[in-house]
Amino acid sequence: MFKKIIGYEYLNKKSFFFVLDGIDGSGTTTHTKLLAGFLENEGYKVHITQEPTKSDIGILLRKILKNSEIPPSTDALLFAADRDFHYNFEIKKKLDEGFIVISDRYIEASIVYQCSQSEDISVEWIKLINKFVGKPDLMIILDIDPKIALLRKKNNELEKFENFEFLKKVRDFYIKRAENEKYNIINSDDIIEITQEKIQNIVLNYITKINAN
Ligand code: TYD
Repeated sequence: MFKKIIGYEYLNKKSFFFVLDGIDGSGTTTHTKLLAGFLENEGYKVHITQEPTKSDIGILLRKILKNSEIPPSTDALLFAADRDFHYNFEIKKKLDEGFIVISDRYIEASIVYQCSQSEDISVEWIKLINKFVGKPDLMIILDIDPKIALLRKKNNELEKFENFEFLKKVRDFYIKRAENEKYNIINSDDIIEITQEKIQNIVLNYITKINAN
């Protein structure tokens, strides 16, 4: 009631930073776009983005990802540089302008992918090289059987991480970390509409909870 008198505009928090992450083929790109459309319909200003980004660093990264000889530490450092630029020049600005920012992948991908690539890469080191980026308000991990995930990919488009053994390792690590860090885990084996509805419920509940406080 009180909120209505003063006006929702001024009392409710509008900017949130949401991240969808998960193994290749888990549907992060599709669900990021669908979620953005849903939130726009609800009246929010929404900005969607992704990693690797479309910046020069992101373009270099995509080239590097096709080369399996590149050391995992180089991958990790490039992803960190891409993210540092991404956060400081794009995400932060959009949040300051009152947008909901939804990123298709973020630091969690570096933790699970790069640590799965090499035992010499630790979670602590990934956190250290990603030290200057802001934390998401809400993390959603899309979980899928790697076999199903790979079926969704075209064979001639597979990148260096897109093989069963590696993706299984990455998936197990995503789930272990998500449980420890209390991230939301959504099963993405289901049809798109069902998975999307679950994501929308989590996001709306979160926004409502924050604005109720
Ligand atoms: P992906 O989201 O699959 O991009 P696209 O769908 O546009 O090709 O990301 C490319 C790959 O990069 C994917 O295998 C996951 C990997 N990756 C990392 O290894 N570390 C990271 O920090 C990020 C963001 C992605």
